[in-house]
Amino acid sequence: MKIVQALNGHTETQKPIWIMRQAGRYLPEYRALRKKTANFMHFCLNQEMVVEATLQPIVRFDFDAAIIFSDILVIPHFLGQNVHFKEGVGPILEHANWQELLQTPIHEDIHIIYESIKNVRRELDSQKALIGFVGCPWTIASYMISEGKTNNFEGLVALAKTWPLFDRLMEKLIAVISDHAVRQLKSGANVVQLFESWAAAVPVELQQKWLFEPTEQIIHQIQKQVPGASIIYYGKGIAQEAINNLQHLGVGFGVSQDTGLSTLKNTSVCLQGNLDPQKLLDGNFKGDVLNILEFSKDRPFIVNLGHGILPETPVSHVEEFIDLVRSQQ
Ligand code: CP3
Repeated sequence: MKIVQALNGHTETQKPIWIMRQAGRYLPEYRALRKKTANFMHFCLNQEMVVEATLQPIVRFDFDAAIIFSDILVIPHFLGQNVHFKEGVGPILEHANWQELLQTPIHEDIHIIYESIKNVRRELDSQKALIGFVGCPWTIASYMISEGKTNNFEGLVALAKTWPLFDRLMEKLIAVISDHAVRQLKSGANVVQLFESWAAAVPVELQQKWLFEPTEQIIHQIQKQVPGASIIYYGKGIAQEAINNLQHLGVGFGVSQDTGLSTLKNTSVCLQGNLDPQKLLDGNFKGDVLNILEFSKDRPFIVNLGHGILPETPVSHVEEFIDLVRSQQ
């Protein structure tokens, strides 16, 4: 599997490619499938639909990896905090009973996700990697305590600083997220990606405590229970700091579009990224893709976007992106 090889440091000229949120609303076949269930969480927990959604982008584009169709917010959901997705608004998390939530183990129905992983792995070409994923504690806690209103970074940090049970919530999340990652790998996922989507909200003086220490604990747990596991850490907006703090763990790093790859030229870790999703949508991406490929020469590298694909992106642009990557190698 090309992605696993890249994460192990191989520098083959054919760089693997997949894209974040590759199963999603830009695909007409996804929109058709999605119409069958109003409730997004029910969709994520319907095994047949999950297998189909996961494989849709592979059937259409022949990507080098599938990512299991799920969401990072299954964790609050199975901890007992109801999660809804409102069209045009995003996730809304209900007010939780925190004392109870902190004392209750995660609901065992989460195993549905592991069953879906087993089913996808059975149907997926053996050359293609299946990627499992989790959200990191800070990002998940952000959604939980703000009840979904994560966009105001200053408000979020102020809320976290004053939240009486914040440290206990982070402890609990470290444990359940580690377990979720391990169980995905043990069910057949070949790689696990850790999403820290709200990393940029965290002030520098709190990065250790809120981002890197919890993530390091999770990575240790994964490596202890699944020796040699392939892991990608995606810290949106903080690639350089993430590499400085976590590279000793032997993981790969997702790079978002706000970080110029040339600023990372001295690192030897496997990088992943970082085409701007807006450029893919607009169609003016050729120069950037050529720069990414030029940078990736003689390095372990996974071609991807810098963040999730935007729902309005024309399918033809995705085809052109993949053709361009494959024609240059
Ligand atoms: O194809 C894939 O990448 C696999 C599936 C996947 C989804 N969410 C499906 C989804 C993955 C990897 C995620 C991760 C995720 N979810 C993240 C981390 C990545 C990132 O974008 O930073 C975050 C922050 C979430 C939380 C989340 N889920 C939000 C903010 C939203 C609403 C915004 C939106 O894109 O609609 C979701 C819903 C969601 N998750 C959709 C999909 C396909 C759209 C829901 C729909 O179809 O109605």
